[in-house]
Amino acid sequence: MHKLTKENLPRHLAVIMDGNGRWAKQRMLRRIVGHQKGVETVRLIVEECSRLGISYLTLFAFSAENWLRPKTEVKALMALLKKYIRSEIARMMHNNIRFNVIGDRGELPVDINRVIDDAIAQTAGNSGMLLTLALSYGARQEIVHAARQIAIDAASGKIAIDDINEGLFSDYLYTTRIPEPDFLIRTSGEMRISNFLLWQLAYTELYFTDVNWPDFDKNELAKAFRDYQSRERRFGKTSDQVQVGGTAVGDITRHR
Ligand code: FPP
Repeated sequence: MHKLTKENLPRHLAVIMDGNGRWAKQRMLRRIVGHQKGVETVRLIVEECSRLGISYLTLFAFSAENWLRPKTEVKALMALLKKYIRSEIARMMHNNIRFNVIGDRGELPVDINRVIDDAIAQTAGNSGMLLTLALSYGARQEIVHAARQIAIDAASGKIAIDDINEGLFSDYLYTTRIPEPDFLIRTSGEMRISNFLLWQLAYTELYFTDVNWPDFDKNELAKAFRDYQSRERRFGKTSDQVQVGGTAVGDITRHR
């Protein structure tokens, strides 16, 4: 296994945090206990990514489909989110982390939106890692939202049809100004993307681990990063081109 080097870490790490429920079930605990333990992992991984110098960390915390879960679980997850965001502001300030949310915020309860606005405003001046929580997020919904917005702007003459290209489309997504993820980790053994960042993951390296999110820790993160560092990112080019040219870093749209 490669040794972890600080130079070639992903600039943008995205994570599908899965397996809280199974972690709890295996221990004959209620699902919410798994989510509570999952929050502790969030704290740990956010801190470690910031320490390692990761520039962008995007966590899938609540999907558009998660609203269909039993009401009690949705309520408990919302309460956890509110508590987490509120309690993390001080730590984000200490670690120079900027807070951000993507997703359909119109679906979120008013009190959560208030806490989110507060965290975004308080951390807006920080210059370190951008921590993005995907909340009430679905990638298809995001793409449709972008398409609709582009149609509105084209109809009103704000943009011309000829302006519509991949770069412009990206600017209409929730992730505008955030580079595409270099690396995606999904925990708990499921090998799916589950409607997460479908556009943005086009050239992302994918990593799946059997470890459930509550058991994911710094060592597991280091293991995942070592795996990432052993990969060659070609962005559609040949291996020879990448090794000679050495330009296969970052955002694919910039190579067009
Ligand atoms: C998957 O576990 C996880 C979620 C649905 C949400 C992730 C939420 C947290 C880690 C806690 C709150 C987050 C923050 C940022 C404070 P699952 O319930 O789908 O697990 P299962 O597939 O084993 O049932």
